[in-house]
Amino acid sequence: MSSRQRILLTGASSGFGALTARALARAGHDVYAGMRDLAGRGALPGAELTGWAEREGLSVTVVELDVTDDASVDAAVAAVLARAGGIDVLVNNAGVAAAGLVETFSVAAAQRLFDVNVFGVLRLLRAVLPGMRARGAGLVVYVSSTDGREVMPFLGLYNATKFAVEALADAYRYETDPLGIDSVVVQPGTFPTTRILPNLLPADDPDRAQGYGPVAEGPAQLLVGIEAMIAAGAPDPQLVADAIVGVVATPARARPTRVVVDASGFDGAARLNALSDTVQAELLARFGLSFLAGRQPARGA
Ligand SMILES: NC(=O)c1ccc[n+]([C@@H]2O[C@H](COP(=O)([O-])OP(=O)(O)OC[C@H]3O[C@@H](n4cnc5c(N)ncnc54)[C@H](OP(=O)(O)O)[C@@H]3O)[C@@H](O)[C@H]2O)c1
Repeated sequence: MSSRQRILLTGASSGFGALTARALARAGHDVYAGMRDLAGRGALPGAELTGWAEREGLSVTVVELDVTDDASVDAAVAAVLARAGGIDVLVNNAGVAAAGLVETFSVAAAQRLFDVNVFGVLRLLRAVLPGMRARGAGLVVYVSSTDGREVMPFLGLYNATKFAVEALADAYRYETDPLGIDSVVVQPGTFPTTRILPNLLPADDPDRAQGYGPVAEGPAQLLVGIEAMIAAGAPDPQLVADAIVGVVATPARARPTRVVVDASGFDGAARLNALSDTVQAELLARFGLSFLAGRQPARGA
């Protein structure tokens, strides 16, 4: 890969995505910033990002991209390929969280969450991997979470989606690393990103909380804690954007499998990553598949 990368990023309208689009552009890359509903909710962030890039003289193109819509994903990737000639880096960032007792979400609501956080990733990979495979090069970044390793009570459905992303990232890595494609999972801890609470998927069957006794108060207590953190404004979500820039800047084939970005001081995800690296390496060795393993272990705390 040359140092200037053609990068497609999902969920660039707010939070980590908005910061990452700007940070990658500042680092000198050609950024294709995916946002959904550019005629509606995406109009303002799209115009703000485009205006910023023009003022700064940086390369950012906003593209319509709803990760839950096959046609939207295919059209976005086709548009980037037509303009850029290829996609060197895909950053799977778009995501939605959900807080509440698992039983208070209908199956349909759970499916909506998985459609964004998990099947959205599959849609992007299906659209982008053929080009990367043909070139024998590429980088896929997955914005997962420390919640993709640890289970936080009252975030259960969200945990399930991020655990799925972690498994998919490993599976893709085993299958595409030998073809020259790097896969890196970025695992943020909890950050006060701008839209984290307004975008929460609501529990659509709250009556199911009756009968849980004091446990039913748990989700509200969790949200109070998150709101307090947002009010405090720390830690700075720019840390996550900078970590993604760092992953892109790391030479191909030398990138870590996972990067934890967590200012909380709790190193649970880092420990689980290290254990997983060891167990997975042993598993692959038992099946004579060590040649599929990624080269670099996880890093971060
Ligand atoms: N904040 C945290 O503490 C934290 C911690 C660990 C991991 N994460 C992960 O970080 C990623 C970014 O989240 P964030 O914290 O920055 O929250 P955010 O501000 O709510 O950003 C989420 C982004 O995803 C987009 N999105 C949602 N549904 C979409 C769809 N169907 N198609 C395309 N884009 C869609 C949103 O677009 P709209 O504006 O159109 O809704 C928004 O741009 C997520 O994967 C999240 O799970 C966050």
